Amino acid sequence: MKKIGVLTSGGDSPGMNAAIRAAVRGAIYLGMEVYGIDKGYEGLIDGEIEPMTISSVSDILQRGGTILRTARSERFMTTEGQKRAISMLENFNIDSLVIVGGDGSLKGGLDLHKQGITVMGLPGTIDNDLGYTDYTIGFDTAVNTVLSAISNIRDTSSSHERTTVIEVMGRHCGDIALYAGLTGGAETILIPEVPVDINAICRKMVQGRNRGKLHNIIIKAEGIDLSTQELADILKERTGMETKIVVLGYIQRGGSPTARDRMLASRMAYKAVELLAEGSESRAIGINGNEIVQYPLADALKMTREYDKDVMKLADILSI
Ligand code: F6P
Repeated sequence: MKKIGVLTSGGDSPGMNAAIRAAVRGAIYLGMEVYGIDKGYEGLIDGEIEPMTISSVSDILQRGGTILRTARSERFMTTEGQKRAISMLENFNIDSLVIVGGDGSLKGGLDLHKQGITVMGLPGTIDNDLGYTDYTIGFDTAVNTVLSAISNIRDTSSSHERTTVIEVMGRHCGDIALYAGLTGGAETILIPEVPVDINAICRKMVQGRNRGKLHNIIIKAEGIDLSTQELADILKERTGMETKIVVLGYIQRGGSPTARDRMLASRMAYKAVELLAEGSESRAIGINGNEIVQYPLADALKMTREYDKDVMKLADILSI
């Protein structure tokens, strides 16, 4: 019987549990044996590998985080660490893995692929920064979390006639800021892909106030090369308007996954085990439109996607 392993790696994201559930139940349905690997590549190196059954994944669909836990593994970056990981897989007669994680985690999967392991990579990260897929697992939930924060912050910003700069996650990719900014009606959206125009922000703040606007919400992705406090200080100095900051931080990584993320995770993970059952080569699974797609792992990791300029333009038009 074919034996496969499942692991989650890197920063967690809502929907990882839905992916684990679908991989485990899907694989068993397709006649495979499944092993859960704890704490990503760290647990793989240490042999933290346990068999999973259909009941191991009961009651997890609605939970954020990952029951397999996760880690960013320094040891796996070394040849020694990878050698150990491969021998652990050999010890358990596992030759295929389903890996749920971001860019770094899937690159780790590519290293294993080069050493003979079949790897199915699923994009699990709130950042939406994998170029080969329209959406990553956890992004939609994170955007909704930010959205609800914007609504609360807007209430109090209006009462006090303040500007609030809200910092959201996204080191290289500003999609969380962009999507939450448009849907939350932020006056300004700052993403790492676009240089910051201080004059334009100040102009919008002053024009808004002159038209009787009570609040001003600025969404800023963390990857911007200007700290959130520095930005707030500059805006206050240049407009004379009270400016506060809110850093949302890890609140964005937790919480029950949205229907969209559960759907994405379930469909992608089932596709992964289906491909393994068919004897496929290593693949990265993604979504294009509403279609689940798969690419050779190495090709997928080279693919890039630009931020959505139309969404940015629309946000700008609508948020005067
Ligand atoms: O990649 C996901 C992410 O949440 C980023 O948005 C953020 O910059 C980073 O992880 C934080 O990582 P850590 O959990 O290691 O602090």
